[in-house]
Amino acid sequence: SDPDLVARAHAARQALGSNAFVLGHHYQRDEVIEFADVTGDSFKLARDAANRPDAEFIVFCGVHFMAESADILTAAHQQVVLPDLAAGCSMADMAAIGQVEEAWDTLVEAGVAEDVVPITYMNSSAAIKAFTGRHGGTVCTSSNAEVALNWAFAQRPQAKVFFLPDQHLGRNTAVRDLGFSPDDCVVYNPHKPMGGLTVEQLKNARMILWRGHCSVHGRFTAENVATVRRRVPDVNVLVHPECTHEVVSQADQVGSTEYIIRTIQAAPAGSAWAIGTELNLVRRLAKAHPDLKISYLDRTVCYCSTMNRIDLPHLVWTLESLAAGRPVNRIVVDPDVAHWARVALDQMLALPG
Ligand code: 13P
Ligand code: SF4
Repeated sequence: SDPDLVARAHAARQALGSNAFVLGHHYQRDEVIEFADVTGDSFKLARDAANRPDAEFIVFCGVHFMAESADILTAAHQQVVLPDLAAGCSMADMAAIGQVEEAWDTLVEAGVAEDVVPITYMNSSAAIKAFTGRHGGTVCTSSNAEVALNWAFAQRPQAKVFFLPDQHLGRNTAVRDLGFSPDDCVVYNPHKPMGGLTVEQLKNARMILWRGHCSVHGRFTAENVATVRRRVPDVNVLVHPECTHEVVSQADQVGSTEYIIRTIQAAPAGSAWAIGTELNLVRRLAKAHPDLKISYLDRTVCYCSTMNRIDLPHLVWTLESLAAGRPVNRIVVDPDVAHWARVALDQMLALPG
């Protein structure tokens, strides 16, 4: 990276001192991670943001839904800042609140709503989290989806989970961790009347999955897994649960970005790994562990383009603006939405484990 920009980032960071706290998601570029006070997966970063009441500015190097969640979890005097407002998430955009309200009406009309517990993946707008809070549900991340599903099903014997917006995380968790059959899951398509489902299907389902997915992880295929197994003897295939069920069921290990890092850190020297997640993280792991044979599960799958929007120039501009007393790109969630979203986020933070 540009040495001038690096020096400017250091100077602005120093000027801000403990007045600012910089969070970096594991998918961020190296040039940004270098300035993060803490790195983590979505769950860890949400918790860390909530535990920094001394910092006036929380600089969130990640995507929009993460910054929204941080704004909801931090105190009123704190400001959450996203270095590029265009850093969204295509998966979160697949569930609009109007569509979700309509889906709920469908569940009410089908006579199943009273058994339904909504669970929304962190990768969703604050409005979807608020919907979840209003209907007695919880937020989850890829590191606690199993605990969240168990919590929901423990509430009543007939419970059904309405899982938003990532169908793959919902299906993978239900089938892989809870032992459900793929047939217990139905997919609700917001572009079709009644989600493209019959009343009978809604009544029989245990998991009603929103038709959303991650455009990065959705590109890995079972063929990629088969190819790497042919190419690299004794390879361990390690993937994120946003991958399709086909890929996850062929993998050796599955988990959040934090889990992927821990697994690699504990791997025996000389072992071979093919990792199915975003490229910045895989490249960093390969560089940090030259004693391991780390490869990318599919070389045509690349960065998360929105995560990558946060680059050094945006970070420098943000830090310098804050240091000059001209905060930019503040993320503020509407108070009523924030109230109900916080109910669902607090429920997640209270889950066991
Ligand atoms: P985690 O960091 O929670 O594993 O989530 C990955 C992700 O896709 C964030 O967008
Ligand atoms: Fe969204 Fe996928 Fe990017 Fe994560 S990796 S921010 S789920 S598009």
